[in-house]
Formats: sequence, C-alpha cells, structure tokens
Amino acid sequence: MAEKKGMYIVLVSVHGLMRGHNIELGRDADTGGQTKYVIELARALASQPDVDRVDLMTRQVIDAKVDSDYAEPLEEIASNAYIVRLPCGPRRYLRKEVLWPHLDSFSDQALKHVRRVGRVPDVVHGHYADGGYVAVQLSGLLEVPLIFTGHSLGQIKRQRLMDRGMKTASIENQYHISQRIEAEEQILDNATFVVASTQQEVDEQYSAYDNYNPNNMVVIPPGIDLQRFYPPKRGWQQPPFYDEVTRFFKNKNKPMILALSRPDVRKNISALIRAYAENPSLREMANLVVIAGSRENIMTMEKGPRRVLTEIIFLIDYYDLYGHVAYPKHHLPDEVPDIYKIICKSRGVFVNPALTEPFGLTLLEAAASGVPIVATQDGGPRDIIANCKNGTLVDPLNSDAIGDALVKMLSDKTNWSKLSKSGINGTRRCYSWNAHVSLYLKEIKKAIAKSGDKNKPREYYKSRLPTADRMLVCDIDNTLIGDEKALKELLYLLEHAGQHIGFGVATGRRIESAKKILKKHGVPMPDFFITSVGCEIHYGPKSIEDMRWKRHIDYRWGPDALCKAMKGIKGLKLQSTEEQRQYKVSYFIDPDKAPPIREIVRDLRKNNIHVNVIYSHQAYLDFLPVRASKGAALRYFADKWDIPVEHILVAGDSGNDEEMLRGETLGVVVGNYSSELKRLKGRERIHFADGDFARGVVEGIEYYDFLGDIKVPQN
Ligand code: GLC
Ligand code: MG
Repeated sequence: MAEKKGMYIVLVSVHGLMRGHNIELGRDADTGGQTKYVIELARALASQPDVDRVDLMTRQVIDAKVDSDYAEPLEEIASNAYIVRLPCGPRRYLRKEVLWPHLDSFSDQALKHVRRVGRVPDVVHGHYADGGYVAVQLSGLLEVPLIFTGHSLGQIKRQRLMDRGMKTASIENQYHISQRIEAEEQILDNATFVVASTQQEVDEQYSAYDNYNPNNMVVIPPGIDLQRFYPPKRGWQQPPFYDEVTRFFKNKNKPMILALSRPDVRKNISALIRAYAENPSLREMANLVVIAGSRENIMTMEKGPRRVLTEIIFLIDYYDLYGHVAYPKHHLPDEVPDIYKIICKSRGVFVNPALTEPFGLTLLEAAASGVPIVATQDGGPRDIIANCKNGTLVDPLNSDAIGDALVKMLSDKTNWSKLSKSGINGTRRCYSWNAHVSLYLKEIKKAIAKSGDKNKPREYYKSRLPTADRMLVCDIDNTLIGDEKALKELLYLLEHAGQHIGFGVATGRRIESAKKILKKHGVPMPDFFITSVGCEIHYGPKSIEDMRWKRHIDYRWGPDALCKAMKGIKGLKLQSTEEQRQYKVSYFIDPDKAPPIREIVRDLRKNNIHVNVIYSHQAYLDFLPVRASKGAALRYFADKWDIPVEHILVAGDSGNDEEMLRGETLGVVVGNYSSELKRLKGRERIHFADGDFARGVVEGIEYYDFLGDIKVPQN
C-alpha cells in the first residue's frame, strides 16, 4: 500500500459471524450488536477523508454448518474498508468462550496481514476481551496506540451469573470468565483510551477493575443507522406490518404506545401493561403494542422467555385488554424501522421500562424515527434524554408514574410534535455515525500526538518490522562492540539504508543489560531483541516481550531438577542470580577442571532432564529449554513476521551464535571469533570475515550485497 497521509486503522473483533451483507444478527449469542457495530464503524471510518484504509480483522470460519462467506480471507465492505478473516485455531465455528487458546496465533496472522498491506497501522482498536487481547499484542509489537471497546465486561457478567445463583465453578467451566477478566485487566493496563457508550458504563462497570482509570475513558455513544431510522416521509404508505398490528384493535385510529425488546424479565414489560391497564384515561386515548421477540410455541421455549410471555398473556386476560393490546407473534429484523414509522404516524410513544438500561439502542431508533420516549431512569436513557430532549424519565417500579407520564405526553399535541422533532434532530446531532467517528478520530489524533516525540508529533516511533524486507541481526559483545570506529561505520550504513532494512540484536545478555550497553555505545534502538541466549524475545523501545515464544519454549523445562542434578560437578560455578532467568540457567565453566560437556549432557539425559546446552568462549555454559537458542528464536521471529530467512544477515563471534549462523540465513563470522566456531568454516552461507568486530559485519554486508540485490557468492 502506497504511503499516503491519511490513517490506516485496524479493528479487531474476533468472534461471531461477520460479513458485510445480510448480517445474521441474533443467530446465536456471538453474532449480535457488536457484530453490527464494528461493521458500521468500519464503514463510517473508511468514508472519512482523512482515513486511507480500515481493516476489520475477524476469525475465519470454514464450516459446512455456516455460510461459505465466512471462509473468504478478504471482503471489501466499502471503498477502503475490508473484513480480513484470519485463521485462528480449528477451522470450524466456535463459541467465543473457547477461543482463548487460539488468540496468540490470531495475533501472528494479524501481523502477517499487516506485512502484506505493507504499512504500519496508526492505531489498533480491540473489541470485547478477545479482540482486546489480540489488540494488546499487536499494538505492543507495532508500537502504536491501543483503543478498546468492551461491549460487555466479564466482571459484570460474573456478578450477574452469581446473582442468579450460579456456582463459581460452573461459571468458570462454561464461560472461562477469569481468563476473560484477566485479559480485560491487561487491556485496561495497556489501552491508550477506552471507548464507552455511556458515562454509567465508565462509573459503574469499568470501576470494578483494578486498572480502572476514568481519565483515559471517553464516552462516544455508538452511531445509529439514519438511513434506516427516520420518520415517515410525505406520501409514505403503511407497510404490511401495519395490518399485523392493527388486527388486534377495536379502534385502529388511536395513537400507539410501543414496547419493543427481547422477552427478558429485566425489560420489565409487565410494569408497562399494568400502567396501561390501571389508567382508564390512558386506555381511552391510546392502544398498546408489545413486541417481545418472535416466537413459535411459547410452551416449548426456554424458561426465561416463557415466563415473560405467559405473564404478558395472563395480564392481558386478567385486565381484559382484548381489543386494546397488540402482541404480534412475528416480526423480521428488517421490519423494525417500519414499526417505529407506524408508531410515529399514529403520534404514539415508545416506552422502555427496563429495570436497568446501560445504553438503550431502541430509544435512539425510536427517537430518530420521530417517536417521543418514556424511559427508565438509568444511565443510557438519562444521556439520551439530556442530549435529545425528547421525553421523560420514570421510575420503572412505579406503574402509576409510567401511566401519568404517558397520559401527559399523549394529551398535549403541540408538545408531542416538539418532542418528536427534537428527537430527530438530537439523534442526527449526537448519535449519527458521522458524529461518532468525528469524535472518535479526534481522540485518535490526540492519542497519536501524545505517543509521538514532542518536537515532531506526526513521526512517532513505528517499528520497521511490518515493512522491512530484510533484517540485520547482530550479536552484541565482540561482534557489534569492540571497535568504536568500525561501529560508527556500520551505524552510518544502517541509518542511510532506509525503512526496508530492519535491525535486531541477539545476545547472551539479559534485556536490561543489552539495552544499557547499546545506549552506552550510541547504538540506536533495535526493532527487536533476542536476549538471554534466545530464551526471550522483546520488541521496540518499550521492550514488549513475546509471550508466545515463552509458552513455546516452556516444553519439557524443569530448572529445579536441572540445578539439583548439576550440584557437585567440578569446574562449574553458577553465575550471579540476575543472569538466571525463567528459561535460562547459566554457569561459569573452567574447561580444564570440568568433565567434558558431552558427558554432562549424557548424565542429564539419563536423569530424564532435557535441555539445550550452549558453550561459549571456553568460559560460559548455558542451559536452556530444548526448544530455545538464539537460532530457534531467530527462526520463530522470521516466521512470525514473514521475513524470508534468506534475507536475514546474521553476525556473531562465539558458540552461542552458532545456531543462528547455520542454515539458510546469510552468516558472517567476525575476524575475532572464538575457537568453537572454527567448525563452521567452509559452509556456503557462512562468510568468515577478515575484519574484526563491526568491521567484519560491514564486510559481510558487502560480501552478500545485502543493501542491494542480495546474492550468495559461489566459492
Ligand atoms: C552473556 C550472559 C551469560 C551467558 C553468556 C554466554 O555473557 O550474560 O549469562 O552465559 O552470555 O552465552
Ligand atoms: Mg559475542
């Protein structure tokens, strides 16, 4: 992708079934509001002039049980907006709670995608805990701001399940809730800012977290689709759903009071029916429409919705509301905009009497359609009515108050028109996607400016890894460092070589000490560090650690048994405690006194201790997990970032460099090498330089024409 000046935004929303058309909303618990929201956000962002590209990354699903659309790796959903589907664990469709073990590979696939695009995103925005988890990795590796939208939060979910009497163990089993909450903590710890839909979400939901920081939370209510939700225009004809509703009524010409929600107890629909039934003037002036999902057979439904629906029907019968209340059996998602238009045309009111309402999308849809609202006194409605001035807040437990509010609203025609208009304008002003993304982009620009250098705000540090096509990887001691003049020459070459050449170090030192010595010698910050002889990988100036590498090398590692077995062996002395790492046990060795290394290894194996043993400078002996070495770390790195191994120039001087010098990499051994490397002589892709230290590295660069076309000279 050509370097343009607009933004490249990556959205990550892993679970559910995502596509640009016929979104299967409500198909299952994972394909709902969030799915719709991220798709609309991607489109709205891409339509902004200062945005070049938006990638919405999601999980690829290849499964005969779902549509083949979800297997397509790339789908253009608007000009400059794409759904990017990445492999993540098994190919089949999985519910979100079981995706956790596969998210690291999703992150790696995401990196490869970024490399294919050939441009570092300006921000990464994670949605829900799983998308946030991936976004933490990505933004860390790419050194770009992280944005997070929770959509819903694990702490709140756990509380709700516990309130319902579910046992901790079964919550854990079914929902892996503590993993989710831990991921959310980590996300909050890393996020540049969090996008919340309401102030209440910030005050009452996020506050349940240790890493709660209200200062980096911004309230940006989601946009609603104003192309679908608008008042009936002149010449508008009643849609088919009108008959579906009015067939219940004795008098079809009265204004209609509408409730529309899932059949969930917390939606408190029965309070509205009581309010209506017990207020004679209300019964006289209006009809009631109760839309509580679609149903086939109430008797075979799950307990929750079954209870709600039977209560509705019992109440209608008890109060004898026949001819006054409509409770249609079916409606299609596409009919919802029509429903509001029907209500508006009747000069009716929308009521949301839910016990709690953190957001209230339906209220906005009603408002945008010109229907005034009566809503529960809670966070979402409070914000909406404050912004739109289109209705009244009520106590959901007080049926009389609900009835009174409705009578008042329905009997004053001039006021009704005022509220209706005010809702239409208010949603346009505060809740359109345009309003949403302009606030959003403003926050992003602030974040980018903050993350950059004060003097040059736009050019904040960006890793070269996503754009580099080749990589120089140097050992530090006795390779990079040793001859200051030669080092300067090498750094000069690198500095002028451009963005497509990445730079990394691979060292026996631990990360802190590696950073320190590079700084001391004026070496600029590498794009990545392989440290502690390959058992750790870190990226960029913030030294973000590659956690997946750690998990990968954990295999068969048992340092306690190892140390025990090594006790008493002559000629060995443990190095200082700071040199001992989670995955590295290091000794000083006196080769004259110690038994041959081969023997040490044999004894360890007999004791069922599996390690990789690395001997350097006739003085150091390192024990690492079997999967770890500088070479293995380098190969893992190359694979992760999709950099061909033949485009990696590796320079070293001693035993712990051997594994990364061997193989398809372009190797250079500096003139001052240590004798254990002698055995590599004569290999085609290992050049033994004449020059010492960094001069040897410069020689290697010339030898392979590394800054040019890259070729391996034939001996
Ligand atoms: C570095 C490390 C040390 C290791 C040696 C050889 O000096 O600090 O722990 O033994 O490299 O790999
Ligand atoms: Mg060295």
